This record gives sequence, structure tokens and C-alpha cells, in this order.
Amino acid sequence: HFARVGRVPGDPILGLMDAFRLDTNPTKLDLGVGVYKDARGLTPIPQAVKLAEQRLVDLETTKTYVGGHGDAAFGRLLIDLVLGTGNRLEAAGRVGATQTPGGTGALRLAAEFIARNLPGRRVWLSDPTWPIHETLFAAVGVEVGHYPYVDAGNRLDIEAMLAALDQVPLGDVVLLHACCHNPTGFDLSQADWQRVLDVVKRRELLPLIDFAYQGFGDGLEQDAWAVRLFAEALPEVLVTSSCSKNFGLYRERTGALIVCAEDSEKLTDVRSQLAFHARNLWSTPPAHGAAVVATILGDASLKAQWVKELEGMRKRVADLRLGLVEALQPYGLAERFAHIGEQRGMFSYTGLSPEQVARLRAEFSVYMVSTGRANVAGLDFSRIQDLAKAIAAVC
Ligand code: LMR
Repeated sequence: HFARVGRVPGDPILGLMDAFRLDTNPTKLDLGVGVYKDARGLTPIPQAVKLAEQRLVDLETTKTYVGGHGDAAFGRLLIDLVLGTGNRLEAAGRVGATQTPGGTGALRLAAEFIARNLPGRRVWLSDPTWPIHETLFAAVGVEVGHYPYVDAGNRLDIEAMLAALDQVPLGDVVLLHACCHNPTGFDLSQADWQRVLDVVKRRELLPLIDFAYQGFGDGLEQDAWAVRLFAEALPEVLVTSSCSKNFGLYRERTGALIVCAEDSEKLTDVRSQLAFHARNLWSTPPAHGAAVVATILGDASLKAQWVKELEGMRKRVADLRLGLVEALQPYGLAERFAHIGEQRGMFSYTGLSPEQVARLRAEFSVYMVSTGRANVAGLDFSRIQDLAKAIAAVC
């Protein structure tokens, strides 16, 4: 049976975790997969999560299945977090959340919905984008196209992006990164978003907004600005929300596909399809992470604690960015890498070539994605000088 089964290369991002683990160099540095690390090099469980988990151990009464859309309280609280408390869509019954195994599960569910219920639509991705965006739509047979995002000089190219989107066939789907663009770290300004919205309206596009890093850019509310703009201005929007990074729940696979529809009748239609697809994909979602998030968001003091911890993570990454640029100054490289300080979120498209990335790994045990994407959130202040020196050596 298996004689004809060949091999595919390992995942370009998760594979780095394994390679890093095997590296015996005591000064190795992991800037690969997008996880936050603290000063001890650990990916911590937020205190708010620990407290919520303790509460759940005491109060949880059953492990029976949650429904196809998951935990309803989680869904409502997440909608508030994403669209803002008291948002008009909720009052009008125009928005619903389907709990998914992480943000990737939400994307997979959205892809399934597009493939089965919106046949013939292409999905337009930024070039570059998270590699799994590419494979995930291919897996369901949805064709993808690309719009430019950065120019040859490694700067955000909003004009090229808008010009390309203006050529997209009417009614197609456009995938947008709400904030903390993965892999580049270049985010759109509010004025840029307004212009993207204009094109989306003109071309009657369906926005699929990937919102995996809420709270890591400019703040919880600020990062949601574009999502809220689109949800207010358009009849239909899809949002994939992840609790992996902002709640530190990575392995608990916690997220949701949030659907905004024209009215509550249409929302019910769409949600019936999502429940059907989800049943075929994973039946019902894993419960624990969502229960933790619902516990935190539903309790004023736990929520305040979480907001504080998230803000601490966000600030640390922002400071690491500035620290790295400063450390590159003595090598005459501060200007060349100034964009690291301007980018947002965990990632930086450094502009380093695949050859330079390979040298960083071979000579300094510094791991980053071959495209030159560095996870700044994997750095520590005690290692900034080492990294600057290594970068200077390969430049
Ligand atoms: C990343 O891009 O590193 C993160 O989104 C983690 C992942 O699943 O790839």
C-alpha cells in the first residue's frame, strides 16, 4: 500500500524547533518559530492563565463534548475582544464565532467554507505571507493569487498592494493580516487601511482577516482597529482569531472563526455550513483553552491581570527591537536595519538573504527562517550584543 508514498520536506518553521533542540552550542539562539520568550528563555504561562486553570480544576463538572460551534461564552467574549464591547454587529445578531483548534483551525475552516460554499473564488495572499496560508488553501483546492507587500528594498509597498488588489476579479477573497504581519512585521497605517477598504468595496471582495497577534502590535484595542473598521463598513467579513500568542495558550489550540454577515438569517445559514464542515474536520473543538479564555475574559480581575501581562510582553518585544537596532550602530548597520525598530509584533523581515541566514546558523547557531524572518520575541537583552555581532559578521 505504501510503496508509492514519497517524502515531503519538513515544515519550514516547526522544523527549526527540532534543529535548534539538537544543537549543542551553549550560545545558540532561537529566532525561528513565533513564540514569545521571557528573560529566562522560557515561553511562560501567564499568571492569569494559571489562576483560571486552577479555578477550572475546582469548578469543572464535565468533560462531555462542547457543541459544534464550541463554548458559547468563549465565542461571545472573544467577539467583544475583537470587535469591541457593545459593538453594533452583535446587537443586530450579525456576528457569530465558531471555536476552532487555534488560528490555523480557523483558517482551515474558512478555507473549507470558501472551497465548498463559494466555489470559483480565488484567495489573494500578500507576497510574502505565512507559508501555511499557501498550503492550507491548496489542500482544499482553492486557487491562490498574490498581491505585492514589500518592495525590493524591504519596505512596505502600499501602492503596489493597492494597484494589484484593484485588478483582482470581482468577488474574490482577500486575506489580510490585521496587525503584526507574518512574516514581515510591516503593518498598514490607518490611512492605508482606509484605502484598502475602498478597493475591497470597489472590487466587492470578501475580506478574510487573519488576527493572530492581537495585543502584540500597538495594544489590544489599537490592533483591532482595522478589523473593526471593516466589520462596521462591510456587510460580510471573516476573521480568524487566535489565542495562542496573546494568552500564551499555544499548545491548547484555541481560536475562532468569526463571521460577520448581512443579517441574522444569513448568519444562521453560514453558521450551519461551518458546523457541518467542522464536524467533518474535527467534530467538536478542544475545550480547555477556550474555557481558560472565557474564565479570564469573564472576570474583571483576571482580565485586568491578563491585560497587564500581555502589555508587558508587547513592550518587551518593542524594546528588544530598539535595542537590536542600537546594538547594530557600532557596526555602521543601524540605518540599514532601522526597519526592525519600525516593524510591529514578533516578526522582523530582516532583509538578510538565505545565504546570510544559513551562515548565521552554521557559524553562530542563530536560527531564523531562511526567508530572513527573525522572531524578535525569541531574543533576550543579554543576547542582543551577540546577535548584532553575528549579523555584522555575515553582512
Ligand atoms: C509562526 O509563524 O512562527 C507561528 O505562526 C507559528 C506557526 O504555527 O508557524
